[in-house]
Amino acid sequence: MKAKKAAAEQAVTYIKDGMTVGLGTGSTAYWAIHGIAALIKEQGLSLRAVASSQSSEALARELGIPIAPFHEVDVIDITIDGADEVDDRLHLIKGGGGALLREKILAGNSKRMIVIADESKRVETLGRFPLPVELVPFAENWTLNAIARLGCEARIRLKDGQPFVTDNGNWIADCSFGAIPDPASLAVSLNRIPGVVENGLFAGIASSAVIGCEDGSVRELHRSERQ
Ligand code: 5RP
Repeated sequence: MKAKKAAAEQAVTYIKDGMTVGLGTGSTAYWAIHGIAALIKEQGLSLRAVASSQSSEALARELGIPIAPFHEVDVIDITIDGADEVDDRLHLIKGGGGALLREKILAGNSKRMIVIADESKRVETLGRFPLPVELVPFAENWTLNAIARLGCEARIRLKDGQPFVTDNGNWIADCSFGAIPDPASLAVSLNRIPGVVENGLFAGIASSAVIGCEDGSVRELHRSERQ
């Protein structure tokens, strides 16, 4: 917990007065949302936010963070979000919490995406964590079979014995590919399958990462423009 909180607290220092901020989802993003609320309450910053899930929006409202309607936002200044895996090139696996579609929409409309994570999320090559893929429930076995033909074992995520339903009314397939050496091309192949809505590979999207350690220290990684 200390590591996640430390990473989140460091990431929120990049938020400046007047910014529009994208709120991630999950137990690390939880600390960032608290940090953003503190910037408003304790430092008097004027900020507004958009959220990547109903749960993060509810938390933000509870903490007094103004939520802007999407039609009033042209571009997000900074999105701060967690990840399930982060590699050296800052490619990510996301979607462990099932919010990958909205998270990718926010990140894709942000000038800057900062990933926050504890050290356990750092990997050399993505793929140890089963890749979440959001799909429509219609004829889901066809979609699942097409995903599996790309070289993985794909299973519908369950919650209390029933398919887990995303904020968008879709389902999630957790896909065990093993090592994913080329996340960008796998992301394209997955999204070509009819029935797939979005996948949890964030390749070339994050601009920096703040990695927290249990002793409360943090390490920052910044994506070089050449990657
Ligand atoms: C939710 C996500 C989360 O950011 C990811 O699962 C990491 O979660 P946590 O910070 O709880 O470990 O992608 O869809």
